[in-house]
Amino acid sequence: MLYIVGGGAIGSLVAAGAQKHGVPYQQYPRNVKHCPSSAVWLNGEIVTLQPACSMPSVLQADDVVVLPLKVYQLSQALHFWLPYLVNQPTVVLLHNGMGGAEIANDILGPDYPLLLATTSHGALKKETENGSVIVEYTGKGETQMGALDVQAFGCSNKTSSILTSKLCSKLPSKLSSAISLLSAALPPTHYCDDIQKALWSKLAVNAVINPLTAINNIQNKHILDSQFDKQRQAICSEFTATANAYGFSFCEKQVHERVMAVAKATGENYSSMHQDIVNKRPSEIGAINGYLIERAKQKGIATPINTLLTQQIKEIEAQFNTNISM
Ligand code: PAF
Repeated sequence: MLYIVGGGAIGSLVAAGAQKHGVPYQQYPRNVKHCPSSAVWLNGEIVTLQPACSMPSVLQADDVVVLPLKVYQLSQALHFWLPYLVNQPTVVLLHNGMGGAEIANDILGPDYPLLLATTSHGALKKETENGSVIVEYTGKGETQMGALDVQAFGCSNKTSSILTSKLCSKLPSKLSSAISLLSAALPPTHYCDDIQKALWSKLAVNAVINPLTAINNIQNKHILDSQFDKQRQAICSEFTATANAYGFSFCEKQVHERVMAVAKATGENYSSMHQDIVNKRPSEIGAINGYLIERAKQKGIATPINTLLTQQIKEIEAQFNTNISM
C-alpha cells in the first residue's frame, strides 16, 4: 500500500496517479478540507480521489510512505508517523531543497530504509469557482529515487558496491518493490545510484528559478530574459564552487545550461516559491538558497548573490507576519 502524507500539489498528483492506475493508496493531509478531491490529468481526464484519511494504523514492512512535504514540515510529520513505522516500511522524502535526509536520519535512525527522491512532474493545486479543491497535472516529468544507504534495504556490502558501480541491476527486493509501487502510480520513476548528485543538481535549478520568479513576480520562462543574465550566472557560479568543494564535479556552464533548459521547459509555470509568496505561505528559501549559503560558509566560500536573494525573500515573508499580526 502507498501512503501519501500531506495534501499538497505533488502528493495529490501521486494520489491521483495511484487512483488512475489502480495502485492501493491512502492520503493523509494535514487539513482534509484543503486536500484536492479530484485531479485533471494531462489529457483533460478527471480523476476522482478517494476520501482522505486522518488516523493511520501500524504500517507493514512492504508498505511505502511518501512525504511530499516542505523540509520545514518534515520533523513534525515524521514525529507524528513514528509510532506507525515500527515495521520499517520504506520512507520516501520528496521535496525541493536539501536538509530532509538529516532530519529523517535523526528521527528514524541511521539504519532506516529511507529513499530520497526528486521529481520534475508539474502539478498545480487550485480552488474552483464552486469552492472545491483540485490538482492539475501541468507537465509530465520523471522521478528519480535513490537510497542514501542501500544496506538499510537488506543489501549486503558486496551487493551494495556492485549496485553503486552500475554493474548489476538487481536491487534488494524491498527497494525495487518501493520503486515499482511509485512507478506504477506516477510513471516514470527510476532508480538513481547517485541520488545526492541528482539532488544537488535540482538544488541549482531551484536556487535560480525559485527566488527570481518569486521576487520579480514572473513565470519561469522570464528568468531567461537578458536582464537576469548576471544574477543567473552568479548563482550558478556560487553553486558550482560550493558543490565542488564537497567533492562533486559540476561544470558551471552545464549547470547554467540546465537551469535555462528547465526554465524553458516549465516556462508557462509559476514556480513553487512564487506560489508560496503569492499565497502568503512560508517559502522553502531556507532549504534552497539558505542551505547553499550554510554549506558554502563551512568551506569559506562567499555567496553574495544567494545571500541577497535570501534576504529579499525573508523580507517579503516578514511582511506577511506583520500583516497577519495587525
Ligand atoms: O519548485 C518548482 O517550482 C520546480 O522545482 C521548478 C523546477 C523550479 C519548476 O517550477
